[in-house]
Amino acid sequence: LQKYLIAPSILSADFARLGEDVDRVLASGADVVHFDVMDNHYVPNLTFGPMICKALRDYGVTAPIDVHLMVKPVDRLIPDFAEAGASIISFHPEASEHIDRTLQLIKDSGCQAGLVFNPATSLSYLEHVLDKVDVVLLMSVNPGFGGQSFIPHTLEKLRQARKIIDDSGRNIRLEVDGGVGVNNIAEIAEAGADMFVAGSAIFNQPDYKAVIDAMRSELAK
Ligand code: DX5
Ligand code: ZN
Repeated sequence: LQKYLIAPSILSADFARLGEDVDRVLASGADVVHFDVMDNHYVPNLTFGPMICKALRDYGVTAPIDVHLMVKPVDRLIPDFAEAGASIISFHPEASEHIDRTLQLIKDSGCQAGLVFNPATSLSYLEHVLDKVDVVLLMSVNPGFGGQSFIPHTLEKLRQARKIIDDSGRNIRLEVDGGVGVNNIAEIAEAGADMFVAGSAIFNQPDYKAVIDAMRSELAK
């Protein structure tokens, strides 16, 4: 199992050349494609859905696709994303009426399941469902937009989440999303994260490989 995963958020990619841009970021050393689904209801922005996910698969993308659902309601989209080639499907617990059922739907569809925590959402949502969770995703910004600043208090929450995961003895990824860059990835890893979403930090630079290499060398410190 790879210790650290880097997951570029294609929210900051070039939508007019999405396939090429995703190929380029994967060829630059990214591990996972982070796919931000926004519905202009749960969050005040609108992005893309299962058709675009399927288009990436049809284009030839074989890397894991990490679908981050910022939608309400959640359940109806799960079979669509599973069929479209999603690998991980994560959702915000407060956007689901029945968290256990939604997690089970994801597992039954053959995908890995993740729960996403906004900066102000309590980790207590994990308590009764940890056995169904493959990924804990902590938001380090409020969801809806790329390019926001990392909220420092997330580091303490990462430490709490790391302890919950370690105490469970289960193989659960701890993913962090929002404001992650070369400048702070080392302290975020030190707080317990092992999967790093980065949108603007990668796609707003001309040389993706230079950014990803710099992140990996920070992680090796
Ligand atoms: C925000 C999204 C993030 C976002 C991260 O709602 O979930 O994945 O794209 O973008 P950066 O890395 O620019 O903060
Ligand atoms: Zn995201």
